[in-house]
Amino acid sequence: MFTVLVYKSRSVKQLVGDELAALVDAAAEKNQKNAISGVLLYDGDYFLQYLEGPDIAIKLLYHLITLDDRHRNVVKLMEDFSPARRFGGWSMYCIDVQKVYGEDIYALLSEGATFNSGESLPDHDRVIKLITAFATSRWSDGERTLHAEDWQFQPQPSPFDVVNPARIQQAACQFAFQPIVSPLTGLISSIEALIRSPSGGTPRQCFEGLSAEELYVFDLESKQHALALASQMQLGPIKLSINLLPMSLVRVPNAVEKLLSYIAQFDFKPQQIIVEITEQESIANFDDFQRAIRELRLAGISVSIDDFGAGFAGLTLLSKFQPEKLKVDRLIVENIHKDGPKQAIVRALIECAHALGITIVAEGVETVEEWCWLQSAGVDLFQGFLFAKPMLNGVAPIQWPVQT
Ligand SMILES: Cc1cc2nc3c(=O)[nH]c(=O)nc-3n(C[C@H](O)[C@H](O)[C@H](O)COP(=O)(O)O)c2cc1C
Repeated sequence: MFTVLVYKSRSVKQLVGDELAALVDAAAEKNQKNAISGVLLYDGDYFLQYLEGPDIAIKLLYHLITLDDRHRNVVKLMEDFSPARRFGGWSMYCIDVQKVYGEDIYALLSEGATFNSGESLPDHDRVIKLITAFATSRWSDGERTLHAEDWQFQPQPSPFDVVNPARIQQAACQFAFQPIVSPLTGLISSIEALIRSPSGGTPRQCFEGLSAEELYVFDLESKQHALALASQMQLGPIKLSINLLPMSLVRVPNAVEKLLSYIAQFDFKPQQIIVEITEQESIANFDDFQRAIRELRLAGISVSIDDFGAGFAGLTLLSKFQPEKLKVDRLIVENIHKDGPKQAIVRALIECAHALGITIVAEGVETVEEWCWLQSAGVDLFQGFLFAKPMLNGVAPIQWPVQT
Protein backbone atom coordinates (compact mmCIF):
# COMPACT_ATOMS: atom_id res chain seq x y z
CA MET A 1 0.00 0.00 0.00
CA PHE A 2 1.42 3.39 -1.02
CA THR A 3 0.37 6.91 -0.18
CA VAL A 4 -0.07 9.14 -3.21
CA LEU A 5 -0.24 12.91 -3.14
CA VAL A 6 -0.68 15.64 -5.75
CA TYR A 7 -0.24 19.35 -5.07
CA LYS A 8 0.20 22.49 -7.07
CA SER A 9 2.08 25.62 -6.17
CA ARG A 10 3.39 28.82 -7.71
CA SER A 11 7.07 29.42 -8.26
CA VAL A 12 8.31 32.52 -6.42
CA LYS A 13 10.49 33.41 -9.41
CA GLN A 14 10.85 31.91 -12.85
CA LEU A 15 13.44 29.13 -12.78
CA VAL A 16 16.02 29.64 -15.50
CA GLY A 17 18.81 27.54 -17.00
CA ASP A 18 19.90 24.76 -14.72
CA GLU A 19 17.85 25.88 -11.70
CA LEU A 20 15.00 23.47 -12.47
CA ALA A 21 17.44 20.62 -13.17
CA ALA A 22 19.26 21.32 -9.88
CA LEU A 23 15.99 21.22 -7.93
CA VAL A 24 14.95 17.97 -9.64
CA ASP A 25 18.36 16.29 -9.23
CA ALA A 26 18.45 17.04 -5.49
CA ALA A 27 14.86 15.85 -5.11
CA ALA A 28 15.52 12.66 -7.10
CA GLU A 29 18.54 11.78 -4.98
CA LYS A 30 16.69 12.26 -1.71
CA ASN A 31 13.58 10.49 -2.98
CA GLN A 32 15.64 7.47 -3.99
CA LYS A 33 16.88 7.13 -0.40
CA ASN A 34 13.34 7.46 0.96
CA ALA A 35 11.68 5.06 -1.50
CA ILE A 36 9.66 7.92 -3.02
CA SER A 37 8.87 8.15 -6.71
CA GLY A 38 6.94 10.70 -8.71
CA VAL A 39 6.66 13.35 -11.39
CA LEU A 40 7.21 17.11 -11.25
CA LEU A 41 5.71 19.40 -13.87
CA TYR A 42 6.70 23.04 -14.30
CA ASP A 43 5.11 25.46 -16.76
CA GLY A 44 7.38 28.44 -16.09
CA ASP A 45 5.07 29.74 -13.36
CA TYR A 46 3.28 26.88 -11.56
CA PHE A 47 4.42 23.47 -10.31
CA LEU A 48 2.34 20.33 -10.13
CA GLN A 49 3.94 17.41 -8.34
CA TYR A 50 2.87 13.82 -7.94
CA LEU A 51 4.50 11.87 -5.10
CA GLU A 52 4.10 8.20 -4.15
CA GLY A 53 5.75 6.12 -1.45
CA PRO A 54 5.50 5.00 2.19
CA ASP A 55 2.92 7.01 4.13
CA ILE A 56 5.31 8.53 6.69
CA ALA A 57 7.91 9.45 4.07
CA ILE A 58 5.30 11.20 1.89
CA LYS A 59 3.79 13.10 4.82
CA LEU A 60 7.21 14.27 6.00
CA LEU A 61 8.32 15.31 2.53
CA TYR A 62 5.08 17.19 1.88
CA HIS A 63 5.53 19.04 5.15
CA LEU A 64 9.06 20.09 4.07
CA ILE A 65 7.79 21.07 0.63
CA THR A 66 5.09 23.34 2.11
CA LEU A 67 7.85 25.17 4.04
CA ASP A 68 10.09 25.63 0.98
CA ASP A 69 10.35 29.33 0.12
CA ARG A 70 11.07 28.70 -3.57
CA HIS A 71 7.31 28.43 -4.10
CA ARG A 72 4.06 29.68 -2.48
CA ASN A 73 0.32 28.95 -2.51
CA VAL A 74 0.97 25.24 -2.00
CA VAL A 75 -2.43 23.57 -2.42
CA LYS A 76 -3.05 19.86 -1.96
CA LEU A 77 -5.21 18.50 -4.77
CA MET A 78 -5.28 14.87 -3.74
CA GLU A 79 -4.09 12.50 -1.01
CA ASP A 80 -5.02 8.86 -1.36
CA PHE A 81 -3.77 5.29 -1.21
CA SER A 82 -2.71 3.07 -4.07
CA PRO A 83 -2.02 -0.67 -4.14
CA ALA A 84 0.89 -0.15 -6.54
CA ARG A 85 3.27 2.57 -7.70
CA ARG A 86 2.36 4.34 -10.91
CA PHE A 87 5.91 5.43 -11.73
CA GLY A 88 8.19 3.12 -9.73
CA GLY A 89 11.22 3.80 -11.91
CA TRP A 90 11.06 7.58 -11.65
CA SER A 91 12.45 8.91 -8.36
CA MET A 92 11.52 12.34 -9.73
CA TYR A 93 10.72 12.65 -13.41
CA CYS A 94 10.49 16.24 -14.56
CA ILE A 95 8.26 17.51 -17.34
CA ASP A 96 9.05 21.03 -18.50
CA VAL A 97 5.58 21.81 -19.83
CA GLN A 98 6.80 24.53 -22.22
CA LYS A 99 9.09 22.03 -23.95
CA VAL A 100 6.55 19.22 -24.39
CA TYR A 101 3.79 21.47 -25.75
CA GLY A 102 1.70 19.53 -28.30
CA GLU A 103 3.15 16.15 -27.33
CA ASP A 104 1.00 13.23 -26.19
CA ILE A 105 1.35 13.46 -22.39
CA TYR A 106 -0.34 10.12 -21.84
CA ALA A 107 2.26 8.45 -24.09
CA LEU A 108 5.05 10.29 -22.28
CA LEU A 109 3.80 9.10 -18.89
CA SER A 110 3.27 5.55 -20.17
CA GLU A 111 7.02 5.25 -20.75
CA GLY A 112 7.63 5.34 -16.99
CA ALA A 113 4.49 3.54 -15.93
CA THR A 114 4.84 0.61 -13.57
CA PHE A 115 1.19 0.52 -12.65
CA ASN A 116 -0.10 -2.99 -11.95
CA SER A 117 3.10 -4.74 -13.02
CA GLY A 118 3.46 -3.33 -16.46
CA GLU A 119 -0.21 -2.98 -17.36
CA SER A 120 -0.94 0.21 -19.27
CA LEU A 121 -2.01 3.32 -17.32
CA PRO A 122 -5.79 3.55 -17.03
CA ASP A 123 -6.83 6.75 -18.82
CA HIS A 124 -9.59 7.46 -16.26
CA ASP A 125 -6.97 7.51 -13.48
CA ARG A 126 -7.29 10.74 -11.43
CA VAL A 127 -3.53 11.25 -11.21
CA ILE A 128 -3.11 10.93 -14.98
CA LYS A 129 -6.04 13.29 -15.50
CA LEU A 130 -4.57 15.91 -13.13
CA ILE A 131 -1.15 15.69 -14.78
CA THR A 132 -2.57 15.80 -18.32
CA ALA A 133 -4.84 18.77 -17.50
CA PHE A 134 -1.88 20.68 -16.05
CA ALA A 135 0.34 19.92 -19.04
CA THR A 136 -2.21 20.73 -21.73
CA SER A 137 -4.00 23.85 -20.51
CA ARG A 138 -2.79 27.13 -19.12
CA TRP A 139 -2.99 26.64 -15.38
CA SER A 140 -4.05 29.38 -13.07
CA ASP A 141 -5.20 29.54 -9.48
CA GLY A 142 -7.12 32.67 -10.33
CA GLU A 143 -5.46 35.94 -9.57
CA ARG A 144 -4.90 35.89 -5.85
CA THR A 145 -5.17 39.58 -5.23
CA LEU A 146 -4.81 39.45 -1.44
CA HIS A 147 -1.79 38.10 0.43
CA ALA A 148 -1.83 37.39 4.16
CA GLU A 149 1.51 39.10 4.77
CA ASP A 150 0.12 42.43 3.52
CA TRP A 151 -2.56 42.69 6.22
CA GLN A 152 -2.76 43.55 9.88
CA PHE A 153 -5.89 43.49 12.00
CA GLN A 154 -6.89 46.39 14.22
CA PRO A 155 -9.77 46.31 16.70
CA GLN A 156 -12.47 48.97 16.60
CA PRO A 157 -14.86 49.30 19.53
CA SER A 158 -18.30 47.91 18.82
CA PRO A 159 -20.74 50.64 17.76
CA PHE A 160 -23.59 48.82 19.55
CA ASP A 161 -24.82 49.16 23.11
CA VAL A 162 -24.24 46.33 25.55
CA VAL A 163 -27.47 44.79 26.78
CA ASN A 164 -28.56 44.47 30.36
CA PRO A 165 -30.31 41.09 30.36
CA ALA A 166 -31.65 41.75 33.87
CA ARG A 167 -34.08 44.19 32.28
CA ILE A 168 -35.67 41.25 30.49
CA GLN A 169 -37.69 38.66 32.33
CA GLN A 170 -35.95 35.39 33.24
CA ALA A 171 -35.52 33.29 30.09
CA ALA A 172 -34.65 29.66 29.42
CA CYS A 173 -31.80 30.73 27.19
CA GLN A 174 -29.32 33.51 26.51
CA PHE A 175 -27.99 34.96 23.27
CA ALA A 176 -24.51 35.77 22.06
CA PHE A 177 -24.14 38.15 19.12
CA GLN A 178 -21.61 37.98 16.29
CA PRO A 179 -21.24 40.38 13.35
CA ILE A 180 -21.16 39.44 9.67
CA VAL A 181 -18.83 41.90 8.00
CA SER A 182 -17.62 43.16 4.66
CA PRO A 183 -13.92 43.54 5.56
CA LEU A 184 -12.78 45.59 2.57
CA THR A 185 -15.54 48.18 2.84
CA GLY A 186 -15.49 48.26 6.65
CA LEU A 187 -19.25 47.74 6.77
CA ILE A 188 -21.18 45.52 9.13
CA SER A 189 -23.77 43.61 7.12
CA SER A 190 -25.73 42.04 9.97
CA ILE A 191 -25.55 40.77 13.52
CA GLU A 192 -26.36 37.12 14.17
CA ALA A 193 -28.09 36.12 17.42
CA LEU A 194 -26.68 32.77 18.55
CA ILE A 195 -28.56 30.82 21.20
CA ARG A 196 -26.79 29.80 24.42
CA SER A 197 -27.98 27.87 27.48
CA PRO A 198 -28.90 29.86 30.64
CA SER A 199 -25.34 29.25 31.89
CA GLY A 200 -23.83 30.37 28.57
CA GLY A 201 -23.44 26.79 27.22
CA THR A 202 -23.77 25.51 23.66
CA PRO A 203 -27.04 25.35 21.68
CA ARG A 204 -26.96 21.57 22.16
CA GLN A 205 -26.96 22.05 25.96
CA CYS A 206 -29.77 24.53 25.58
CA PHE A 207 -31.97 22.08 23.65
CA GLU A 208 -31.09 19.06 25.82
CA GLY A 209 -33.99 16.97 27.09
CA LEU A 210 -36.62 18.56 24.83
CA SER A 211 -38.85 16.33 22.70
CA ALA A 212 -38.98 17.15 18.97
CA GLU A 213 -42.27 19.06 19.32
CA GLU A 214 -41.06 20.97 22.42
CA LEU A 215 -37.85 21.80 20.56
CA TYR A 216 -39.70 23.46 17.66
CA VAL A 217 -41.85 25.56 20.02
CA PHE A 218 -38.81 26.52 22.11
CA ASP A 219 -36.80 27.31 18.95
CA LEU A 220 -39.47 29.74 17.75
CA GLU A 221 -40.31 31.28 21.13
CA SER A 222 -36.65 31.87 22.00
CA LYS A 223 -36.57 34.40 19.15
CA GLN A 224 -38.72 36.67 21.28
CA HIS A 225 -35.82 36.84 23.73
CA ALA A 226 -33.27 37.42 20.94
CA LEU A 227 -35.35 40.31 19.60
CA ALA A 228 -35.81 41.75 23.10
CA LEU A 229 -32.05 41.79 23.63
CA ALA A 230 -31.26 43.11 20.16
CA SER A 231 -33.80 45.93 20.59
CA GLN A 232 -31.56 47.32 23.36
CA MET A 233 -28.46 47.30 21.16
CA GLN A 234 -29.32 50.23 18.86
CA LEU A 235 -28.66 48.30 15.63
CA GLY A 236 -29.82 51.21 13.48
CA PRO A 237 -29.91 50.14 9.81
CA ILE A 238 -27.95 46.94 10.48
CA LYS A 239 -29.91 43.74 10.07
CA LEU A 240 -30.45 41.07 12.70
CA SER A 241 -30.03 37.39 11.74
CA ILE A 242 -31.93 34.80 13.71
CA ASN A 243 -31.72 31.03 13.31
CA LEU A 244 -34.71 28.77 12.85
CA LEU A 245 -35.02 25.04 12.31
CA PRO A 246 -37.05 24.52 9.14
CA MET A 247 -39.45 22.22 10.99
CA SER A 248 -40.20 24.98 13.53
CA LEU A 249 -41.78 26.89 10.64
CA VAL A 250 -43.74 23.80 9.61
CA ARG A 251 -44.75 22.22 12.93
CA VAL A 252 -45.54 25.18 15.17
CA PRO A 253 -49.06 26.42 14.35
CA ASN A 254 -49.04 29.98 12.93
CA ALA A 255 -45.25 30.12 13.24
CA VAL A 256 -44.73 33.02 10.81
CA GLU A 257 -47.56 35.01 12.39
CA LYS A 258 -45.98 34.52 15.83
CA LEU A 259 -42.55 35.54 14.58
CA LEU A 260 -43.99 38.67 12.98
CA SER A 261 -45.72 39.55 16.26
CA TYR A 262 -42.39 39.28 18.16
CA ILE A 263 -40.72 41.45 15.52
CA ALA A 264 -43.41 44.12 15.90
CA GLN A 265 -43.37 43.84 19.72
CA PHE A 266 -39.76 45.02 19.82
CA ASP A 267 -40.16 47.72 17.18
CA PHE A 268 -38.23 45.97 14.45
CA LYS A 269 -39.38 46.02 10.85
CA PRO A 270 -39.53 42.64 9.03
CA GLN A 271 -37.09 44.13 6.47
CA GLN A 272 -34.45 44.30 9.23
CA ILE A 273 -34.67 40.58 9.93
CA ILE A 274 -32.88 37.70 8.21
CA VAL A 275 -34.05 34.18 9.03
CA GLU A 276 -31.21 31.68 8.78
CA ILE A 277 -32.48 28.21 8.03
CA THR A 278 -30.32 25.62 9.77
CA GLU A 279 -31.11 22.31 8.19
CA GLN A 280 -29.96 19.71 10.70
CA GLU A 281 -32.72 17.32 9.75
CA SER A 282 -34.39 16.66 6.44
CA ILE A 283 -37.49 18.72 5.79
CA ALA A 284 -40.40 16.31 6.11
CA ASN A 285 -43.10 18.39 4.48
CA PHE A 286 -41.54 20.54 1.81
CA ASP A 287 -44.79 22.11 0.60
CA ASP A 288 -45.55 23.46 4.08
CA PHE A 289 -41.96 24.66 4.43
CA GLN A 290 -42.13 26.50 1.12
CA ARG A 291 -45.44 28.07 2.13
CA ALA A 292 -43.83 29.37 5.34
CA ILE A 293 -40.85 30.74 3.37
CA ARG A 294 -43.28 32.50 1.03
CA GLU A 295 -45.06 34.04 4.01
CA LEU A 296 -41.75 35.26 5.45
CA ARG A 297 -40.80 36.83 2.15
CA LEU A 298 -44.20 38.41 1.64
CA ALA A 299 -43.79 40.06 5.03
CA GLY A 300 -40.39 41.44 3.93
CA ILE A 301 -38.08 39.07 5.82
CA SER A 302 -35.05 37.74 3.92
CA VAL A 303 -33.87 34.17 4.14
CA SER A 304 -30.48 32.58 4.30
CA ILE A 305 -29.34 28.92 4.21
CA ASP A 306 -26.99 28.29 7.13
CA ASP A 307 -24.11 25.75 7.31
CA PHE A 308 -24.32 25.08 3.55
CA GLY A 309 -22.40 21.93 2.72
CA ALA A 310 -22.96 20.29 6.11
CA GLY A 311 -25.66 17.80 7.04
CA PHE A 312 -28.83 18.26 5.01
CA ALA A 313 -28.11 21.82 3.86
CA GLY A 314 -26.91 20.96 0.40
CA LEU A 315 -27.60 21.09 -3.30
CA THR A 316 -31.07 19.54 -3.14
CA LEU A 317 -32.27 22.25 -0.78
CA LEU A 318 -30.67 24.94 -2.97
CA SER A 319 -32.28 23.51 -6.10
CA LYS A 320 -35.70 23.75 -4.42
CA PHE A 321 -35.41 27.17 -2.89
CA GLN A 322 -32.99 30.02 -3.45
CA PRO A 323 -32.26 32.20 -0.43
CA GLU A 324 -30.90 35.75 -0.45
CA LYS A 325 -27.76 34.53 1.31
CA LEU A 326 -25.92 31.25 1.46
CA LYS A 327 -23.55 30.65 4.35
CA VAL A 328 -20.74 28.26 3.52
CA ASP A 329 -20.11 25.86 6.39
CA ARG A 330 -17.01 26.32 8.56
CA LEU A 331 -15.71 22.85 7.72
CA ILE A 332 -15.38 23.90 4.06
CA VAL A 333 -13.79 27.22 5.02
CA GLU A 334 -11.20 25.67 7.35
CA ASN A 335 -7.74 25.70 5.70
CA ILE A 336 -9.25 26.46 2.27
CA HIS A 337 -6.05 28.26 1.22
CA LYS A 338 -4.20 24.93 1.05
CA ASP A 339 -6.96 22.53 0.07
CA GLY A 340 -7.62 21.96 -3.65
CA PRO A 341 -10.95 20.08 -3.40
CA LYS A 342 -12.42 22.76 -1.07
CA GLN A 343 -11.25 25.50 -3.44
CA ALA A 344 -12.87 23.78 -6.43
CA ILE A 345 -16.16 23.40 -4.51
CA VAL A 346 -16.22 27.03 -3.33
CA ARG A 347 -15.30 28.39 -6.79
CA ALA A 348 -18.23 26.42 -8.25
CA LEU A 349 -20.51 27.67 -5.45
CA ILE A 350 -19.51 31.29 -6.08
CA GLU A 351 -20.32 30.85 -9.78
CA CYS A 352 -23.63 29.18 -8.92
CA ALA A 353 -24.55 31.92 -6.41
CA HIS A 354 -23.61 34.60 -8.95
CA ALA A 355 -25.87 32.99 -11.57
CA LEU A 356 -28.75 32.89 -9.08
CA GLY A 357 -28.25 36.35 -7.54
CA ILE A 358 -27.37 34.90 -4.12
CA THR A 359 -24.79 36.46 -1.76
CA ILE A 360 -22.21 34.08 -0.29
CA VAL A 361 -21.17 34.42 3.35
CA ALA A 362 -18.13 32.50 4.62
CA GLU A 363 -18.61 31.40 8.22
CA GLY A 364 -16.05 30.19 10.73
CA VAL A 365 -13.21 32.26 9.23
CA GLU A 366 -10.35 32.08 11.70
CA THR A 367 -7.15 32.89 9.82
CA VAL A 368 -5.91 35.71 7.59
CA GLU A 369 -4.94 33.12 4.96
CA GLU A 370 -8.50 31.74 4.77
CA TRP A 371 -9.92 35.27 4.45
CA CYS A 372 -7.39 36.28 1.74
CA TRP A 373 -8.18 33.20 -0.36
CA LEU A 374 -11.96 33.60 -0.03
CA GLN A 375 -11.94 37.36 -0.59
CA SER A 376 -9.72 36.94 -3.69
CA ALA A 377 -12.06 34.24 -5.00
CA GLY A 378 -15.02 36.63 -4.81
CA VAL A 379 -16.62 36.16 -1.38
CA ASP A 380 -17.63 39.52 0.12
CA LEU A 381 -19.17 38.73 3.50
CA PHE A 382 -17.42 37.04 6.42
CA GLN A 383 -18.15 35.81 9.91
CA GLY A 384 -15.68 34.27 12.31
CA PHE A 385 -13.19 34.64 15.14
CA LEU A 386 -10.78 36.49 12.82
CA PHE A 387 -13.20 39.44 12.86
CA ALA A 388 -15.13 39.01 16.13
CA LYS A 389 -16.01 36.22 18.52
CA PRO A 390 -19.62 35.85 19.61
CA MET A 391 -20.26 37.80 22.81
CA LEU A 392 -23.09 37.32 25.32
CA ASN A 393 -25.48 40.28 25.43
CA GLY A 394 -23.49 42.45 23.03
CA VAL A 395 -21.11 42.65 20.11
CA ALA A 396 -17.36 42.31 20.72
CA PRO A 397 -14.89 44.83 19.24
CA ILE A 398 -14.44 44.04 15.55
CA GLN A 399 -10.98 43.40 14.09
CA TRP A 400 -10.76 45.15 10.71
CA PRO A 401 -8.01 44.40 8.19
CA VAL A 402 -5.61 47.23 7.40
CA GLN A 403 -3.12 46.98 4.54
CA THR A 404 0.48 47.33 5.72
C1 LIG B 1 8.49 22.40 -6.37
C2 LIG B 1 9.37 21.65 -5.41
C3 LIG B 1 9.43 20.26 -5.43
C4 LIG B 1 10.23 19.56 -4.54
N1 LIG B 1 10.25 18.19 -4.58
C5 LIG B 1 11.02 17.50 -3.72
C6 LIG B 1 11.07 16.08 -3.73
O1 LIG B 1 10.40 15.43 -4.51
N2 LIG B 1 11.88 15.47 -2.84
C7 LIG B 1 12.63 16.16 -1.95
O2 LIG B 1 13.35 15.53 -1.16
N3 LIG B 1 12.62 17.49 -1.91
C8 LIG B 1 11.83 18.19 -2.76
N4 LIG B 1 11.82 19.55 -2.73
C9 LIG B 1 12.69 20.23 -1.77
C10 LIG B 1 12.05 20.25 -0.40
O3 LIG B 1 11.11 21.31 -0.34
C11 LIG B 1 13.07 20.49 0.70
O4 LIG B 1 13.86 21.59 0.35
C12 LIG B 1 13.99 19.31 0.85
O5 LIG B 1 13.24 18.13 1.03
C13 LIG B 1 14.86 19.53 2.10
O6 LIG B 1 15.82 18.57 2.11
P1 LIG B 1 16.97 18.57 3.19
O7 LIG B 1 16.28 18.59 4.53
O8 LIG B 1 17.71 17.31 2.94
O9 LIG B 1 17.78 19.80 2.93
C14 LIG B 1 11.02 20.26 -3.62
C15 LIG B 1 10.97 21.66 -3.60
C16 LIG B 1 10.16 22.35 -4.48
C17 LIG B 1 10.14 23.86 -4.46
